[in-house]
Amino acid sequence: MRIGVPKETAPGERRVALVPESCKKLKQAGYEIAVETGAGLAAGYPDEAYREAGAAVETDPAQLLGAADVVLEVGPPAVGAGRDEVGWMRAGAVYLGSLMPLRNLAAVRALAARQVTAFATDAIPRTTRAQAMDTLSSMANISGYKGVLLAAVELNKYFPMFMTAAGMVPSAKVFVIGAGVAGLQAIATAKRLGANVTATDVRPEVKEQIESVGGKYVGIELTESAAAGGGYAKELSEGDRARQREILVAQVAQSDVVVTTALIGGVFAPRLLSAETVKRMEPGSVIVDLAADGGGNCELSRPGESTSVGGVTILAPLNLPASLPLHASLLFSRNLTAFLQAFTKDGAFQVDLNDDIQQGALITHAGEVRHARTREALAKEGA
Ligand code: NAI
Repeated sequence: MRIGVPKETAPGERRVALVPESCKKLKQAGYEIAVETGAGLAAGYPDEAYREAGAAVETDPAQLLGAADVVLEVGPPAVGAGRDEVGWMRAGAVYLGSLMPLRNLAAVRALAARQVTAFATDAIPRTTRAQAMDTLSSMANISGYKGVLLAAVELNKYFPMFMTAAGMVPSAKVFVIGAGVAGLQAIATAKRLGANVTATDVRPEVKEQIESVGGKYVGIELTESAAAGGGYAKELSEGDRARQREILVAQVAQSDVVVTTALIGGVFAPRLLSAETVKRMEPGSVIVDLAADGGGNCELSRPGESTSVGGVTILAPLNLPASLPLHASLLFSRNLTAFLQAFTKDGAFQVDLNDDIQQGALITHAGEVRHARTREALAKEGA
């Protein structure tokens, strides 16, 4: 079977879905591999490294995708005029990548119409067996780390406490909202830089995890559980939201840096910080909204931009993993390779709709949208 890896073309994307290290592994599993010329260049993997790993390097993406049984991509495939990646794919081919189907309905529709079997790595069930395939975790970890570095650069003071000949300066106060994968990495990174870190989440079971990476937990006793299973959170009831707001306002007002990472169902960002709350921060403080890809946790965030309101800087970076493309690609590629290896027999990928991982990750198959939440979103859009 042949694997095709096109160059990513989304604005600002520097990652590649497969790195040379993984090419060697997949060749051993019996695959032939072709990558588009320059596919790994921005991530630090030149064409020559792919050739050395036994992959073919091709210049024509239409030909590359037309010949592929399995297409690996970081983001959703391009659709429409100019670069119609889905149109170039073969009926019956497999697409594997971070499709984010609820945010990319046009690509889903095109994949279904083209009869592509599309698996979204971001929809993989959160089980122990699937952990090595989980691109969401690999990428969220990078966002949490890089988000704190951006805050440290922007902040008008030191992160660590310093004893100097000119006297002592206290450590910065960092508050992390949402302690999932990105949030825990943000806490750990801020702690390593010497900050005083506090964090909150709506899933109280994360208290111990926050403490284990050096943060202090603040939270409210919820009247209704916010856990939606698999580590995902659901929306809070109106009463719980009001009680959470009180804690957030008090905590944000005394923080130098606020890092927000909260997502509902792993996709959409609840609005947690109002303009009023931001006003209570000291000038020179920084907010990093790591949920910007999902719309943002802060009312003042402008996804993809940096804004300043009343002296408070609000960063809302999009696609932070692309800013660390070498390691982001390496980890992403290992995740995809683990998925393929788990379902490869005699050098061929086996679609097995009885397998729980494939069932969870399957978005389109045989001309239909098979993912329930995506089907609902498409129906809503059409209504
Ligand atoms: P996520 O990206 O969906 O959300 C980030 C965090 O925001 C979550 O911890 C969530 O509880 C929190 N949040 C949502 N609404 C909030 C609000 N109103 N206020 C404050 N916080 C709010 O979650 P992520 O990071 O993808 O995963 C969460 C957990 O799932 C992880 O901590 C881990 O335990 C588990 N997980 C398990 C995996 C596995 O077993 N294979 C793989 C990945 C994650």
